[in-house]
Amino acid sequence: MSHMKFKTMGQQFGRRSWAEPWKIKMVEPIHLLKAEGRKAAIEAAGYNTFLLKSEEVYIDLLTDSGTSAMSDRQWAGMMLGDEAYAGSKNFYHLEDAIQKYYGYQHIIPTHQGRGAEHLISQAVIQKGDYIPGNMYFTTTRLHQELAGGTFVDVIIDEAHNPTSHHPFKGNVDLDKLKTLIDKVGAEKIPYVSLAGTVNMAGGQPVSMANVKALRAFCNQHGIRVYLDATRMVENAFFIQEREEGYKNHSIAQILREFCDYTDGAWMSAKKDNLVNIGGWLAVNDPVVAEKARNMVVVYEGLHTYGGMAGRDMEAVALGIEEMVDDDHAASRVRQIRYLGKLLLDWDIPIVEPVGGHAIFVDAKRFYPHIPQDQFPAQTLAAMLYLDSGVRSMERGIVSAGRDPKTGDHRYPALELTRLTIPRRVYTQAHMDVVAEAVKSIYDTRDQTTGLRMVYEPEYLRFFQARFEPFE
Ligand SMILES: Cc1ncc(COP(=O)(O)O)c(C=O)c1O
Repeated sequence: MSHMKFKTMGQQFGRRSWAEPWKIKMVEPIHLLKAEGRKAAIEAAGYNTFLLKSEEVYIDLLTDSGTSAMSDRQWAGMMLGDEAYAGSKNFYHLEDAIQKYYGYQHIIPTHQGRGAEHLISQAVIQKGDYIPGNMYFTTTRLHQELAGGTFVDVIIDEAHNPTSHHPFKGNVDLDKLKTLIDKVGAEKIPYVSLAGTVNMAGGQPVSMANVKALRAFCNQHGIRVYLDATRMVENAFFIQEREEGYKNHSIAQILREFCDYTDGAWMSAKKDNLVNIGGWLAVNDPVVAEKARNMVVVYEGLHTYGGMAGRDMEAVALGIEEMVDDDHAASRVRQIRYLGKLLLDWDIPIVEPVGGHAIFVDAKRFYPHIPQDQFPAQTLAAMLYLDSGVRSMERGIVSAGRDPKTGDHRYPALELTRLTIPRRVYTQAHMDVVAEAVKSIYDTRDQTTGLRMVYEPEYLRFFQARFEPFE
């Protein structure tokens, strides 16, 4: 071996290489704009990567939401769309798939995840209620607040520490939950809002032991557990890999066992379910299901399509069948881990352990000289685009928004820039280009200054806010 100068990806890490478990049969060309073009584009976008045009982007790591490549089976399924207003056969296929793989009884389709968050929040939250959860998510918390609730973070402390190597940083801290119950009373807590994996913590998983203990604890207090199942397949992969007793369980078995400890779930089908649009709510309680079914016709569409076309529901049903393939789940997470390993080897600060859907660069350590209210993570996303046309997104103070009571910025412990990997879209070569781009802006980090916000929308400001550099 010693004469070998060049190494494959696997050899670099001392193991056999793996490859993406698919072959490409349709391509979409992408181009890198020249430096002047990228500068003009980011200025026109107010230094907010959400406001860039897709054509201005070279490698798009803004989100893994709705950006998956569908399979040939899914595209074939699109041709089987039954576009009847009521009772489309694709709805029944979707219902069967959710009942089989997630195990819930009553299914209400929605146009995407936030449609389902809206329904569950309005169906079960009363004004003055508290909703404990394993870290907030932007749209989830907003719907809980709009329904009159207050979100309370009960995730373990390790989740707020980007350097903690805890294997299940998404776990709920039952002591924190108990403290909340002692303070406000169990009757003020309609449900625990459990996410697997936890997006804002860096795509970190919840262990089976934790959900089991949470279920038992909530049973004692008469509190329900509802799951944000958006990325539960990735969570299942981490359980298979890290939790004792699950090595020989399939992703499908782990997913089903986990969901069985919960009372229902909301879903952004745009992630795990491998489609470009769609969502659903699924619950076991027929009374909650009826409330949601009544509301869905007001806000989304009839209860057998909920804002999706028949063909979309078919693609979701097929996506559910494909997402539980063990090779798919493993290659998804390993691709992200490959990128993470390169960055860590180059001493670039990222959230560890590497999570399920993205690399989260720790902007506080990347730009220690930029104060949090000058938006270091937003700055990092803008700099990465300027350097290489790679689009990422802020997950820090801008995403956290303002406290509705005080009107001040919320200052989250985690100030992160997310490089989110779409499913089945990019190859290892794209990951190499991205890694070198992050290194390039890291090498010149001392010369970078922060931003000031010059336009701030009222809701979910990160989507449309505009910024300017200080000079
Ligand atoms: C964890 C989580 N929950 C809910 C949602 C909301 O889903 P959607 O974007 O489909 O409305 C998202 C989307 O980004 C998410 O990441």
